[in-house]
Amino acid sequence: MALILLIIALSTIAHIAQGHFTFVRVKADGEWKSPLQYIRNKTSPYDELKFYEGNFLYRYYNWPTYIIDRPESVRCGRDNMNHAQGTEVLSVKAGDTIEIAHQREEPENWTDDMFYNCTDDRGSCFHKLGWVQDFNHPGPLLIHLSKVPSSQDIRTYDGSGEWVKIHTLGLTNPRYGQPLNWTLYRSDPPHITFKIPAQTPSGQYLMRMDLIWSGATNEYINIGDDGSLAQMYPSCAQLNIQSESKAEFPKGVKIPEIFQPLEPGMTTSWDMLNNQKLDENYTYPGGPLWNGEDLVVDKPVVLE
Ligand SMILES: *[C@@H]1O[C@H](CO)[C@@H](O)[C@H](O)[C@H]1NC(C)=O
Ligand SMILES: *[C@@H]1O[C@H](CO)[C@@H](O)[C@H](O)[C@H]1NC(C)=O
Ligand SMILES: *[C@@H]1O[C@H](CO)[C@@H](O)[C@H](O)[C@H]1NC(C)=O
Ligand SMILES: *[C@@H]1O[C@H](CO)[C@@H](O)[C@H](O)[C@H]1NC(C)=O
Ligand SMILES: *[C@@H]1O[C@H](CO)[C@@H](O)[C@H](O)[C@H]1NC(C)=O
Repeated sequence: MALILLIIALSTIAHIAQGHFTFVRVKADGEWKSPLQYIRNKTSPYDELKFYEGNFLYRYYNWPTYIIDRPESVRCGRDNMNHAQGTEVLSVKAGDTIEIAHQREEPENWTDDMFYNCTDDRGSCFHKLGWVQDFNHPGPLLIHLSKVPSSQDIRTYDGSGEWVKIHTLGLTNPRYGQPLNWTLYRSDPPHITFKIPAQTPSGQYLMRMDLIWSGATNEYINIGDDGSLAQMYPSCAQLNIQSESKAEFPKGVKIPEIFQPLEPGMTTSWDMLNNQKLDENYTYPGGPLWNGEDLVVDKPVVLE
């Protein structure tokens, strides 16, 4: 009986196998860079460690990453270290504004009109299957930076050090007891812009971009067992940040550890997963947020 309930429960959140997304484009200095310029590519298809929810061991480019996958996949995307050497390093200044864009089509089908001459100066647009470049999952967008150890070059750094969250784009006007409105989960998502904190010290950094769809627990599902695991969509840009700041870069969190199912924001109630209502004390995943001065608990401001 329990097994049947589990299967039914999972099928209600059966995730479509294709048409997810990857952040593949960055705008800096007011200019959109080429797709995958400065961003580590991924290998596709690529074998992960375990089967999960109808995903084959072989995962395709835009398919989700789960906590049971290889640590490297959770950090910066499947097989990213094999692509690091061939990826350029983007020079930016601390305090600069960055914009990023995602793509839902698999690379073999990318065409220029999915990236160039988009309306409203978007970094991606148009989908030949008739989709807009929206996000098909609710959840927060998270941006993290990891400082490359001074003994290493960014092209050999695997992100096994610490990560500091610098930006979250989560819920719009959340209220307890009300349906949720995820800022990016709509047909016309806003531009994704944020600043590299001006206090960031000089150095090379990996910049991790992700939108996380939480897993859920309910009476039928035990997380960490055969329960529902969060879906992640990580990719990383290689940055060289120039800065006047002499501030210390704050203490960060480790990946994949911070994305384990029992860490804040990674597993929500069934109601929250279905956008019915906000969990009490919900905290965005990925550790505290650095506002340039302090590390703060990263929670939505809940309206009365
Ligand atoms: C990125 O990787 C995909 C899949 O592995 C491949 O099809 C594509 O050509 C690569 N793109 C670049 C710019 O390297
Ligand atoms: C590329 O597009 C074709 C035609 O729409 C489709 O049949 C094929 O599955 C696509 N390839 C991938 C990897 O999505
Ligand atoms: C974008 O617009 C420019 C100027 O109108 C044009 O020269 C270029 O071919 C267009 N590129 C694409 C991919 O449509
Ligand atoms: C979510 O918020 C946006 C921006 O304020 C608004 O345009 C949209 O109508 C809201 N959606 C719902 C379902 O409330
Ligand atoms: C609320 O969430 C914060 C951040 O995850 C955590 O430190 C705290 O213990 C939680 N409080 C309660 C009462 O669960």
